[in-house]
Amino acid sequence: MSESDATAVLDTQVPLPLIYRGKVRDIYEVGDGRLLMVASDRVSAFDVILRQPIPRKGEVLTQLTAWWLDSLHGVTEHHLLSCDADEIVDQVPALRESREAWARRSMLVHRTEPVLVECVVRGYISGSAWKEYRSSGTLAGEPLPEGLVESQQLATPIFSPATKAQTGHDENIPFSEVVNLLGSEEANRLRELSFAVYEHGATIAKEHGIVLADTKFEFGHHPDGRLLLIDEVLTPDSSRFWPADLYEPGQAQTSLDKQPVRDFLDRLTEWDKSPPPPDLPDEVVRETTDRYLEIFRRLTGTELDDFQPPRFG
Ligand SMILES: Nc1ncnc2c1ncn2[C@@H]1O[C@H](COP(=O)(O)OP(=O)(O)O)[C@@H](O)[C@H]1O
Ligand SMILES: [Mg+2]
Repeated sequence: MSESDATAVLDTQVPLPLIYRGKVRDIYEVGDGRLLMVASDRVSAFDVILRQPIPRKGEVLTQLTAWWLDSLHGVTEHHLLSCDADEIVDQVPALRESREAWARRSMLVHRTEPVLVECVVRGYISGSAWKEYRSSGTLAGEPLPEGLVESQQLATPIFSPATKAQTGHDENIPFSEVVNLLGSEEANRLRELSFAVYEHGATIAKEHGIVLADTKFEFGHHPDGRLLLIDEVLTPDSSRFWPADLYEPGQAQTSLDKQPVRDFLDRLTEWDKSPPPPDLPDEVVRETTDRYLEIFRRLTGTELDDFQPPRFG
């Protein structure tokens, strides 16, 4: 084990009822319509969770989400109540003793009823969208212009929703299916909000030398009727961030995320991408931590250790 693994967290332990263990986050019930979302350092690739945690990853995801949500004031309403440990202890005294286990990696949020559609916005054609386009000339079933090359910027960003699969891979669906599932009013609302948040994110990222190629949002209904942006927002786990100075259409791009993990696994031709996963070498773990810290630094202009979480009270 490398030194830094001492503080990395695979499974979180918090003295509240655990209601869901996701690929990355453990969700605890707080009562009064609130949840504590604790981001572990788990990393998944090809929908398989690896055995080695990535030190600092959970912190980066949580603090970066808070930084973006703070900047999104006036663009959309969201679920975050606090990610400041003092504030959280004040509101949930039962968490005082276990503070070390969750501080800096946790968000106290409004509990919502999640909308069962993942709201993906793509400004550039990459990943599963590139695969679909290459084989059928479409994106989410809708035709795109001929002659696009991999990673090319689209004329305008495209809303490319996906089903939120309980198990297995998410599946891209056409907008018409979102309308069938949720009704046209909600479908349009989700699309408009997603475009607004993407535009906001892409503009700020660009100012920091980063291309926001695509990103995925989730929304949820608060019991009071509001539609809130939920989950993680504009993080390297939910977005493709490309260094603008290295951007070159016509090929896959370097991305500031868990790419070292994916590259390592891709080189292992004998692994069939189903559990159990191979062990990650220390070197790959270290490189991945560095990528997460780098995207945090580049976007926020602050080292993670110097970052003061915004207050939402
Ligand atoms: N405010 C919220 N209310 C209810 N559920 C939420 C909220 N924010 C996020 N979630 C859910 O919590 C989970 C986040 O944990 P994560 O590890 O990302 O899970 P997953 O493996 O499902 O992506 C997601 O399933 C997301 O839909
Ligand atoms: Mg998730």
